[in-house]
Amino acid sequence: MRKRFLKESLSGVSEVWWEIPGHLDVRNNRLYIANTDAEKLAQEHGTPLYVYNGDRIVENFSRIKEAFAASGAKPRIHFAMKANSHLAVLQLLLKQGAWIDAVSVDEVKIALKAGFPRERILFTGTSVSNSELKQLAELSVKINIDSFSQMERMKQLSFKGEASIRWNPGEGAGHHEHTITAGKFIKFGIPEHRIEEAFRKAKAFGFKVGGLHQHIGSGWLGKDVEVFLETVDKTIAVAEKAQEILGKKFEFIDFGGGPGIPYSKDQKQFPLEKYAKGIVGKMEQHGMRAEIAIEPGRYIVGDAGVFLTEVNTVEEKNIPVIGTNSGFNHLVRPAFYGSHHEIIVCGNVGGREKGEFMVAGNLCETSDVFNETKQELRELPIPKEGDILAILNAGAYGYVMASNYNSRPKPACVMLLNGKAHLVSKRETLEDLVRLESEVG
Ligand code: LLP
Repeated sequence: MRKRFLKESLSGVSEVWWEIPGHLDVRNNRLYIANTDAEKLAQEHGTPLYVYNGDRIVENFSRIKEAFAASGAKPRIHFAMKANSHLAVLQLLLKQGAWIDAVSVDEVKIALKAGFPRERILFTGTSVSNSELKQLAELSVKINIDSFSQMERMKQLSFKGEASIRWNPGEGAGHHEHTITAGKFIKFGIPEHRIEEAFRKAKAFGFKVGGLHQHIGSGWLGKDVEVFLETVDKTIAVAEKAQEILGKKFEFIDFGGGPGIPYSKDQKQFPLEKYAKGIVGKMEQHGMRAEIAIEPGRYIVGDAGVFLTEVNTVEEKNIPVIGTNSGFNHLVRPAFYGSHHEIIVCGNVGGREKGEFMVAGNLCETSDVFNETKQELRELPIPKEGDILAILNAGAYGYVMASNYNSRPKPACVMLLNGKAHLVSKRETLEDLVRLESEVG
């Protein structure tokens, strides 16, 4: 049966464009993550399993710092914890000097639990309720205002804390239309034609407004960096106007998150230098002295995470299907955005006998595939049942978007740091699935 999967034209040369020395290496045809055999990790901790390389997270964070330092700047780097909110990840980044971009009250509480001081947390919510506003005021974190409604209600609640305003600079970018957050059909922020009014109102309300915020979208690379830099220019011009209205200088301008990572071999590395230099240069051109803030999530944790899943079935159906022991309940990006994630056969990375497969999950849904689409079959060394597959670039928006669909517990997560493996999140159990349930009658 194996033969039938074989593609005749294959050269047998494997593509390992994703190798990152010391982080993802191929040794003796096997995948190593942070110098640890990936299959061994799967044996020790079970699958499905998220593996994070803590050292890689630190490296990614440092690269951002260094790119800005090369332009003489020291930005506030707010980690967008929506990308990966494990306490261990947050604590690692706290030690590196990170700040926090939080989007819910509980994200704020988790960041505080991880040890972040409240003055290093900026809450940027949308459709924020009064009860959330009260809790945020009690927690004394900075609030980034998303709407006039929110501002009015903050006034009614006698908000005395620090605030900033999020505006929509009119143009967005992202790897998928779902991840573009500026432009016309977008719910976030104050639109351009009302932004001056927003600052006038904030002043009239006596708010302590320390900054302006934009976030144009998530996962942009290449030419999109130019679109981003145009919005940076516009944002600084709005900040100048806002300072005039408020009659005081801003503390910071926050340019949001969004720097992408290469998920497939045709994508290039994010041009970090151009990005950092671009922001710093535009601040200088305008003579703007406020501190620079940015909110990267994916760039810091994305490539540091690998998702391991086991092969349950290998079978020629109408098409050749590899059935795994996970699905979009654990990594939804392919099914939700059609995102490409490299899939590696951990114990036979460059195997010459290859086939083209649908790599499917174990959920009862047709869309439950790890390929970009159901039609795009993936060329892989032919795996055996029991083999371990690694799905790369799963560190951002992986575990945080996991669900319990089909009553399947969430996977365990391990962090490799300084040569040691630490269990940072236990595997859920049946008890966890029914913990909040009660029987009737
Ligand atoms: N700041 C704000 C206000 C945001 O809404 C986001 C992401 C970020 C920062 C961080 O963006 P990043 O640097 O990670 O691109 N689930 C999608 C991504 C949604 C991003 C939502 N907001 C995905 O898997 O691609």
